[in-house]
Amino acid sequence: LDYLKDLGVDAIWLSPCYPSPQVDFGYDISDYKNIDPQYGTLKDFDHLVAEAEKRHIRILMDMVMNHTSDKHEWFVQSRSSRTNPYRDWYMWQDGKGETATDKGQVPNNWQSDFGHSAWEWDEKTRQYYYHKFYIQQPDVNWDNPKIHEAFKDIIGFWLKRGVGGFRFDAITTLYEDPQLRDEDIVLDKDGKSYLNAYGDIALNDTRTNNLPGTHPVMQEMRAWSDTFNSSKFPGTRVLIGETYLPNIGELAKQYGTPDKPEFHLPMDTQVGFINKLDVAQFRAKLNDVETGVNGNIPLLVFDNHDNARLDARYGDGVHDTDIQRVISTMLFASRGTALFYYGDEIGMKTTPPTRKEDVKDPVGLTGWPKDKGRDGERTPMQWNAGPNAGFTSAGVTPWLPVPPTAATVNVKAEEGQPDSLFTWYQTLIRLKKTNPAFAHGDNLMLDTSNMKVLSWMRQTSGAPSVIVSVNFTADPQTVSLSVPNASGNVKTLLKTPNATDPTSISQIQLGTYGVYIGELQ
Ligand code: NOJ
Repeated sequence: LDYLKDLGVDAIWLSPCYPSPQVDFGYDISDYKNIDPQYGTLKDFDHLVAEAEKRHIRILMDMVMNHTSDKHEWFVQSRSSRTNPYRDWYMWQDGKGETATDKGQVPNNWQSDFGHSAWEWDEKTRQYYYHKFYIQQPDVNWDNPKIHEAFKDIIGFWLKRGVGGFRFDAITTLYEDPQLRDEDIVLDKDGKSYLNAYGDIALNDTRTNNLPGTHPVMQEMRAWSDTFNSSKFPGTRVLIGETYLPNIGELAKQYGTPDKPEFHLPMDTQVGFINKLDVAQFRAKLNDVETGVNGNIPLLVFDNHDNARLDARYGDGVHDTDIQRVISTMLFASRGTALFYYGDEIGMKTTPPTRKEDVKDPVGLTGWPKDKGRDGERTPMQWNAGPNAGFTSAGVTPWLPVPPTAATVNVKAEEGQPDSLFTWYQTLIRLKKTNPAFAHGDNLMLDTSNMKVLSWMRQTSGAPSVIVSVNFTADPQTVSLSVPNASGNVKTLLKTPNATDPTSISQIQLGTYGVYIGELQ
């Protein structure tokens, strides 16, 4: 906590730490009102919340409402008989052409996001159940009002304990097409169907993702969560959405309306997962989220536990640290809330398993070798260059191996070093908290025909504007910016070591992947 406070973090989203068989590393929950014993107890959790609060850090829980573990009591009951009161808490269907002796075929072509059919046959009660994710993660039935009440009860349980809010997992997949229509096949550029990494025919997901039913559910959860604002727990609780969506219009809907608000902060995954240093695309997508969400606060995110780390998606293997300065500048110097993943601040590298027998994440086994799963981005935090990178005691085997890069990429080597990536993150976060334009100002793109350097201005009334220029190339660049009614004089707030202090914004020189941030005088 002290480390995070020092970095400037003010809220931590914990991935699920409830009791779980750990098939999907906590995203298969068997008891929503407890802590998995391998992490501690509810008492330990309360202690964590209290200690975090002392440091002005809020703890956010992961709320998984699309599915439970197959070991959750609700599902154990549900699968015990067709007449059990919990039967319609999940998505049960007859097989196509099922007879007394033959299970027939799966109800339709829907696939799990983790490979193969999304329907699993239950021999005892002779029906299929639907699972968008692993077989051990049956989807709950949101047409059943009891599910709404059950999750409100769980949300209330954690809010009463003082959590700062939730990140809602897989929230766009709560509902499916009631007519159970097949998904469409995706065609490649030659008009042919093709196989995905799991060896299945690639399908669209229009029947099982982003159906309108999620909006009333989120309105209900928001209204419920808002009732927990009280003198004991002042301040609005924050509701964050895992919202992978195709365009800004769909993202805008996730905020709801002033009368019927939904998420405070649905994640914008359209900027952060461009996965290519392309100036035009970043300019367009950052502009979309500035202008397309009705003035709501964007939540930018470039990295998480489900995707290869930044080095693998944006790096070139030579200038990875410089490129991470570029990425983190877009994250922190844009308007909105910034979400980042542990280890980004020191430049931890994606380290996937090299042998199939070492894979922990089941999708890595299904997809091997095309998709090696998500182990590569979930390795232990690298605190120092000692045994197990300081993550656990020497001689203990951590759950995933410590990457060899820990010898040089670690907190101890970077903390307090003026030119380290850690200090870069720390400074950007400090600017975001202390400089008014940097903190709240609007984003206005500058020099918009430049395809090598992305420049923008942050402006708010009553405070000097801030300009930001980011070189997306390995070659030195010079940019000439002009801002109406400004003298052009500028004072440096932050720059990469290879950028020079300009006397005017009409002449900003940037080295390889250089960044310049200055305040207009
Ligand atoms: C999204 C989570 O981030 C991912 O880790 C998980 O496997 C799926 N949802 C299913 O819960």
